[in-house]
Amino acid sequence: MSCPPKSDDLVFFVNGRKVIERNADPEVTLLNFLRKNLRLTGTKYACGRGGCGACTVMVSKHDPVSAKIRHFSITACLVPICSLYGAAVTTVEGIGSINTRLHPVQERIARSHGTQCGFCTPGMVMSMYTLLRNHLQPSEEQLMEALGGNLCRCTGYRPILESGRTFCVESTDCQKKRTGKCCSDLGGNDSSSLSRESDICTDLFVEEEFQPLDPTQELIFPPELLRMAKNPEKQTLTFHGERVTWISPGTLKDLLELKAKHPEAPLILGNTSLGPAMKSQGRVHPILLSPARISELSMVFKTSDGLTIGAGCSLAQVKDILAEQVSELPEEKTQTYRALLKHLKSLAGQQIRNMASLGGHVISRHCYSDLNPILVVGNATLNLISEEGTRQIPLNDHFLAGLASADLKPEEILESVYIPHSQKWEFVSAFRQAQCQQNALADVSAGMRVILEEATDTIKELSLSYGGVGEATIGAHKSCQQLIGRPWNEPMLEEACRLLLEEVSLPGWAPGGRVEFKRTLVVSFFFKFYLEVLQELKKLAKVSDSHHYPEISDRFLSALEDFPVTGPRGVQRYQSVDSHQSLQDPVGRPIMHLSGLKHATGEAIFCDDIPMVDRELFMVLVTSTKAHAKIISIDLSEALELPGVVDVITAEDIPGTNGAEDDKLLAVDEVLCVGQIICAVVAETDVQAKRAIEKIQITYKDLEPIIFTIKDAIKHNSFLCPEKKLEQGNIEEAFEKVDQIVEGEVHVGGQEHFYMETQRVIVIPKAEDKELDIYVSTQDPAHVQKTVSSTLNIPINRITCHVKRVGGGFGGKVGRPAVFGAIAAVGAIKTGRPIRLVLDREDDMLITGGRHPLFGKYKVGFMNNGRIKALDIECFINGGCTLDDSEQVTEFLILKLENAYKIHNLRFRGRACMTNLPSNTAFRGFGFPQGTLITESCITAVAAKCGLLPEEIREKNMYKTIDKTIYKQAFSPETLIRCWNECLDKSSFHSRRIQVEEFNKKNYWKKKGIAIIPMKFSVGFAATSYHQAAALVHIYTDGSVLVTHGGNELGQGIHTKMLQVASRELKLPMSYMHICETSTATVPNTIATAASIGSDINGKAVQNACQILLKRLEPIIKKNPGGTWEDWIEAAFEQRISLSATGYFRGYKADMDWEKGEGDPFPYYVYGAACSEVEIDCLTGAHKKIRTDIIMDACCSLNPAIDIGQVEGSFIQGMGLYTTEELKYSPEGVLYSRGPDEYKIPTITDVPEEFNVSLLPSSQTPLTIYSSKGLGESGMFLGSSVFFAITDAVAAACKERDIVEDFIVKSPATPEQVRMACADRFTEMIPRDDPKTFKPWSIPIA
Ligand SMILES: Cc1cc2nc3c(=O)[nH]c(=O)nc-3n(C[C@H](O)[C@H](O)[C@H](O)COP(=O)(O)OP(=O)(O)OC[C@H]3O[C@@H](n4cnc5c(N)ncnc54)[C@H](O)[C@@H]3O)c2cc1C
Ligand code: FES
Ligand code: FES
Repeated sequence: MSCPPKSDDLVFFVNGRKVIERNADPEVTLLNFLRKNLRLTGTKYACGRGGCGACTVMVSKHDPVSAKIRHFSITACLVPICSLYGAAVTTVEGIGSINTRLHPVQERIARSHGTQCGFCTPGMVMSMYTLLRNHLQPSEEQLMEALGGNLCRCTGYRPILESGRTFCVESTDCQKKRTGKCCSDLGGNDSSSLSRESDICTDLFVEEEFQPLDPTQELIFPPELLRMAKNPEKQTLTFHGERVTWISPGTLKDLLELKAKHPEAPLILGNTSLGPAMKSQGRVHPILLSPARISELSMVFKTSDGLTIGAGCSLAQVKDILAEQVSELPEEKTQTYRALLKHLKSLAGQQIRNMASLGGHVISRHCYSDLNPILVVGNATLNLISEEGTRQIPLNDHFLAGLASADLKPEEILESVYIPHSQKWEFVSAFRQAQCQQNALADVSAGMRVILEEATDTIKELSLSYGGVGEATIGAHKSCQQLIGRPWNEPMLEEACRLLLEEVSLPGWAPGGRVEFKRTLVVSFFFKFYLEVLQELKKLAKVSDSHHYPEISDRFLSALEDFPVTGPRGVQRYQSVDSHQSLQDPVGRPIMHLSGLKHATGEAIFCDDIPMVDRELFMVLVTSTKAHAKIISIDLSEALELPGVVDVITAEDIPGTNGAEDDKLLAVDEVLCVGQIICAVVAETDVQAKRAIEKIQITYKDLEPIIFTIKDAIKHNSFLCPEKKLEQGNIEEAFEKVDQIVEGEVHVGGQEHFYMETQRVIVIPKAEDKELDIYVSTQDPAHVQKTVSSTLNIPINRITCHVKRVGGGFGGKVGRPAVFGAIAAVGAIKTGRPIRLVLDREDDMLITGGRHPLFGKYKVGFMNNGRIKALDIECFINGGCTLDDSEQVTEFLILKLENAYKIHNLRFRGRACMTNLPSNTAFRGFGFPQGTLITESCITAVAAKCGLLPEEIREKNMYKTIDKTIYKQAFSPETLIRCWNECLDKSSFHSRRIQVEEFNKKNYWKKKGIAIIPMKFSVGFAATSYHQAAALVHIYTDGSVLVTHGGNELGQGIHTKMLQVASRELKLPMSYMHICETSTATVPNTIATAASIGSDINGKAVQNACQILLKRLEPIIKKNPGGTWEDWIEAAFEQRISLSATGYFRGYKADMDWEKGEGDPFPYYVYGAACSEVEIDCLTGAHKKIRTDIIMDACCSLNPAIDIGQVEGSFIQGMGLYTTEELKYSPEGVLYSRGPDEYKIPTITDVPEEFNVSLLPSSQTPLTIYSSKGLGESGMFLGSSVFFAITDAVAAACKERDIVEDFIVKSPATPEQVRMACADRFTEMIPRDDPKTFKPWSIPIA
């Protein structure tokens, strides 16, 4: 065997320490290297595709061109370690720690309550830290830009931004700078009871207590690297990996020589294109050429006619270069640069812009490229170089289409891009529309340029280029050619649209779908361009006055403005604690999350941060590629022969029960959906296991029927459980007596949990007595324990599940972790070795299911004054292929459908459909957010028919007095009405409604909408056995207290609240107390931490345990009242008094008789109301959230910072459900949207510009701990206020356009839905396809 060639040493620094890697593997990413080799686990894996920012670290490099050190944030999951030669990496551990010194960024994000589960926090910290290394006092815009690439699924971003704002220039001047109002004035007029009450607080943290930012404390750039950079080695560096060799030449000459020698080898710069492609296509490039050390590729030349930018410049650098040019040159010369700048602001997140190179962007030729269409119309030229010399080629459609005659030769590289100046009478614009404003790939992007004959409106030259409407960026040459010589006026516009739709044609089946929307955008963008140019011409005409151009009415000018990105502002109001409350007593105070600082320093340990255990193996799951099929054979032989592969676990290896008969852990004989788990590979490393799954051959035989949609399930009578029904009054009779009846449909899409920490488990088998230790990210460790027990056929008492913390759950970690735990346990028992199973984001999204999509039909009967007399709703949820929680979700849906309304004659029916999709499961709100959208849609339908406003119908039909629900549970709606009135008042609803109408009268292309939604949300499980909890409290002889309870820390702050309870009960500061973990060994038989009651029931159990202990200590305290806690504990020990107690809470007795349709299923209700205002762009479907006001009934909040965090976080998650989060399935049932690129959860720029949250001053609820309420889920539904504000705006547009009211409601209200609903001359122009004539790219499943 030949020896592997010797690699050069890879030298770089991490957190000030030198790393010399003698055998650097080009396939190893920085993220893996940090986590596995250096054990720096603060940097997290959440998506592996650069799309979430969880792995953000700072890289510092010496820039040979500017001779300065450049600090920039990057996503470590896309950075090959070999690219780091000579760089300094700073991770979250490198900037501060709890044990040494916290960095102000770390301190502030934690103390501002910017962490919940904490999984995104290190990434957030590093993005902010990098910003501060470059700008000591950044502007708010820079802060938003820095955080735009970091996703958080818990907080709703407001507190994170708040913490960053404390570093900004404006921070001391609160809101005054932007709004002219002080913080306390924000949120409307102050006549409400909330602001009248003197004990209302608006501060959740004290900024003055923050330590100042001291730049002298930062790590310096390592002098050794500086020396290396100043005397760069010219020799070529080579790093040989197992499959890939990385070659980094030191000179351009060497690079060109290498390129000639290895023409097939790609150049690797940012790896933001190559990396994801290699991952998704499993493609390996044996040789990678890195031009990172070639300064010629980073050169910038400014000439009198244009700008030449080195292909190696990052997109962030390109942005700075263009901004500089724009500031230096007259406006007429910088048209193309401005257009590029516009898109560079929204292209990806900051980290990707820092990594991605201009050359990589151009050469990648992505069809969605934001820059290529502008570069094409701007007549950019590509400067190519090879050993043969240099040459120029135009950056045109032929190049972008990859035509050999217009392309680079294999031995050539792109050296730079030349972008000419624009000239007078030349106009360039750029357009894009994506699922959300920022950090989302465009559905359609466009670059447009026109040159007019001097001082006329005659078209001399026109170029239009589109991305997203074909396999490559395409130009509309024929159309442009035909329009030359035409005047820039309405007839030209009409003709242009006709030509464009002919030329830029998109088949009905086009990949990516949204075909009619895209067609509409093609012409809508041109219309915007038409208006923009007219507007510019009008300005020029004023100067030259030589020509008269067509007038644009003021009403149409609104087509021109883009929605700016603005950081959210707002006020959070809550009731302060009683002035007599002891200072030591933390209950009711905004105490920081117990793990906040650890989250911020990366010291908080999540499941996969646990160090490798001796002899540990890695498991990867093999899933079905068929939706419904018989498994004919599974051939494991090839996989088993691969190096490192230890075994493949199949159903035959299960010693006990293989799940349930109709819900198997591992498939046997038949598969019911794509993504069903068939078997699992265990190997020495994750890389080996992942390679092996590719080699497993499974043959299938398709089975019938294959059902994906609710419609098909109904047709095939395919249901998971019997119908659930509730009825009151006499619905048929009532329909006969009403003035009007409306019938309609509501479709609500599903939702992916998108917890930042994917599903993870580590199973450690012990040598003795078949014991197993399981570390798992779950909301229900007892369920994992039980499932593993039945799977392995060993008693529950041998299995211990540990949960330290969970990186977000939202219902998705209630049932599923047991499946992963059990499969991993089978692997552990079979191999006798520890098993680690960490799902990739793609697999997690594919396998685990999410919120149930819903289809609802309603018939509502009402009087002309808006009083609803009868409501009949029938709804169906898409349950997927197994029962899971679908029956309970259907029950909850039906129980909660009435929301806040008293309607005498009701009939609610619900069924869970069985389809060949992955099983859907619990998700925050458990059916309520989907179902209640039907009820609220009925209200808007009634309003439309009566000619009244929706809020009038809501108010008229709301519960007013003590009453009974449809299931006859008595309740008082007093707090509901208070929330509603406070919300009306605080949001200045009525005056803003008038302003909205005024705005809509004046603007044709932009419309505003406003909506206010009431909420009655029942918390808890409708089963008695779930209303119990236990706790175990130990006091040790030094006085320290260890609290354990049955709740799991998911980010919702349950541990913090439990210590607040213990602190009050023991009258002891929280600093004495500690919670280590949730473990089935300390508190057995726990119930899932879900349904908003975790703190209620566990709080009572902790209270009980503490009270028992205190009672035992009472005689000792009485005897020595002046003694210290330590004295008492010592005395108690001496006196043989037990210092350990179990607390127990036997909670609510829930009952529900479905036969009778009666019961008391829920312990209490949370009430709330939310008002949202939005503005939509009728031409693109985009929307901007102007303002949201939420009033939530928290009763006596245990911790207002945590509770407000729950309200804000769930509201934003709900807003995602109703606006941007869209799951796409192929006609074969394959989920397309399997990562942050395709599935858009809200980003920081999606938060309403003004976001006010108030906790209603205390009401009382006797059932819960200290009269607090569980707020985990309820806010989710309030996100629908944004949905209804959007539909309000759409209704205004439709009314103006005389479009007849349509009572089919579709959620999410994506740009596509909004644009297509605002029908106009452009939507009328587009060709429509007959759905029967083609197979669509995706199918709707709701
Ligand atoms: C999370 C994420 C979000 C994104 N969002 C957007 C977005 O909103 N809009 C958008 O337009 N794009 C977006 N992108 C795409 C991004 O713009 C491109 O991936 C990026 O510009 C490619 O640059 P790179 O340096 O990383 O290329 P690499 O991945 O390093 O290389 C890509 C290709 O270019 C070739 N190449 C690179 N430089 C040269 C050269 N000098 N000469 C010859 N060949 C060369 C390589 O051989 C390789 O084939 C996104 C990407 C990610 C990962
Ligand atoms: S894990 Fe790297 S960006 Fe998501
Ligand atoms: S705190 Fe941001 S993802 Fe949980």
